[in-house]
Amino acid sequence: MACRDMPTIARSWAFPRADSLPPYAFVTTDAAKAEALAAGADLIDLGLGNPDRPPPPAIVEVLHAGANVAENHRYHPGSGVPELRQAICGWYQRRYRTTFDAEKEVVVCLGAKEGISHFCFAALSPGDIVVSPDPCYPIHASGPRIAGAEVEPYEARAAIAPAEAVAQALARVEARGGRAKLVIANYPQNPTGRGVSRAELMELVRVVQQSGALLLHDLAYADLDFRARFAPSIFDCGMPEAEVKEFAVEVCSLSKSYNMPGWRVGFVVGNRRMVGALAHMKSYLDYGGFAPLQHAAAWALTHGDRIASDLRDLYRARAAALVEGLREAGWADVAEPSSTMFVWAPLPAAWRERGSMAAVKSLIERAHVAASPGVCFGPGGDGYVRFALIEDPPRLREACERIRRWLAEEA
Ligand SMILES: Cc1ncc(COP(=O)(O)O)c(C=O)c1O
Repeated sequence: MACRDMPTIARSWAFPRADSLPPYAFVTTDAAKAEALAAGADLIDLGLGNPDRPPPPAIVEVLHAGANVAENHRYHPGSGVPELRQAICGWYQRRYRTTFDAEKEVVVCLGAKEGISHFCFAALSPGDIVVSPDPCYPIHASGPRIAGAEVEPYEARAAIAPAEAVAQALARVEARGGRAKLVIANYPQNPTGRGVSRAELMELVRVVQQSGALLLHDLAYADLDFRARFAPSIFDCGMPEAEVKEFAVEVCSLSKSYNMPGWRVGFVVGNRRMVGALAHMKSYLDYGGFAPLQHAAAWALTHGDRIASDLRDLYRARAAALVEGLREAGWADVAEPSSTMFVWAPLPAAWRERGSMAAVKSLIERAHVAASPGVCFGPGGDGYVRFALIEDPPRLREACERIRRWLAEEA
């Protein structure tokens, strides 16, 4: 082969795994946003669920102090610094009265998203079947797919009980001769804002247990349940904790509870094999987060309940303001979420045919308000738009005023 042919060959290599992925959910409207901004628009961006406020100074002070300790700048191999793993156990014990072995049942991750994706990578293979919600936070479907698994969606909408939706999906898998290896659940749920009671969660856990599948429950919005102090955990749902530990893990995040999304700190607790597989995979892939971030996260989990409950009150007030404003603007049928930091609004009648992507692009172009098209969360989301509650009520009211004019133009 002549050397001069080499660049041609290099250019011909395909990247099937990356190429098979569509643009990530939250970049699909970037061009429309960039165009509006370039034209000088004062865009109100309620697209990404990216907390707008900084973490409280007390947490940042622990980070600063940790940065001055020489030892903290070294590699810290393992499942997370011991102080943080202990703080995670303390957090679960305090609020859910559940006990975890900090060595074998806890692994710290670079955010919940990394934990979920690498758990899928560790546990799933081509041919495996995963039952996952639709619509969903994107990694709940793309994590299994990237690992080569097949996804059987279950309906995540208000009209159907979570356990029932999962049972139906499991039955569909069985009816075609398959067996689900993993069920992914997420309550409080992104993007729908739906929460569950302990009893509903127990039903769901029971259905998964009886199916023989593993369960991964994403509890990233543990602190953002507007009806209770904490959203329920699968390990405190009414079933004996030891039984749940036989087949399940729970994933938590510090991003939303303490305004730390850029810090990338989350954790996975529960079944030893599942936690161990993730920790083992991660020992190949990373050395964990910067130790001062982990120490500050430990402080937040130990002392930050008040911070988290103040944030819950903030998001609840913002949800009420946005829903009221949307209704006054003529956006019918918008329900207040029972949890999370999102309002999940059915598309106005005039947009149902054209779909959520067209509606959001028009909102950006003509009303200078950005949201997330529901279709980015799965085909089941296409009749909806998701608004992230990352602005205070005055700005939300301004967004609603612009939406009122936009709806009037479309009517
Ligand atoms: C349900 C859910 N899980 C996980 C995450 C990501 O959390 P982290 O920032 O810890 O990766 C999000 C972020 O929006 C989410 O909505």
